[in-house]
Amino acid sequence: MVRVILIGYMGAGKTTVGKALAADLGLTFYDLDWYITMRYHRSVPEIFAERGEEGFRDLERRMLHEVAEFENVVVSCGGGTPCFYDNMEYMNSLADTVYLKADPEVLAQHLKMGKGKRPLIEGKTPEELETYIQESLQAREPFYSQAKYTIDISVLDTFTKIDECVRIIREMVGV
Ligand code: S3P
Repeated sequence: MVRVILIGYMGAGKTTVGKALAADLGLTFYDLDWYITMRYHRSVPEIFAERGEEGFRDLERRMLHEVAEFENVVVSCGGGTPCFYDNMEYMNSLADTVYLKADPEVLAQHLKMGKGKRPLIEGKTPEELETYIQESLQAREPFYSQAKYTIDISVLDTFTKIDECVRIIREMVGV
């Protein structure tokens, strides 16, 4: 039975790599944010607006407990998932957890394109975004670094990044 969970900051490429890994392994892919949206018929920004971050984190934890029980899956989490409750410990107890690590500059570059869908960074100027990433990444690192495996995606070549990530994860996890 294979169960891989990808974690990491917003914009690290968890969904892109997760989809590619699942396709390569012939497994089902779940994105936790999409799963929450599907179960509650609300987008992540709508849930933040209606229930606040605290309400979102509660739903996120509950949905994590559904998705992480599925077998033969690749799951990508939200950037904050490992940093609340005992989520990281829980994920480590039943999956191969992989941290997609990236430099703040790389993350900022990726996030400047898709800010609208992410309530935590919406409306920030490029300078504010960079400061926010630096500070929150530092605060989150102690949680992310508890993953069983880490890949630094900043050092991978842009054009072969996704394929390389898939190859490295398969080798590390042994699947
Ligand atoms: C969040 C990351 C988002 C989403 C929510 C909160 C975070 O997921 O869960 O907006 O706290 O970092 P992605 O990492 O897929 O953008």
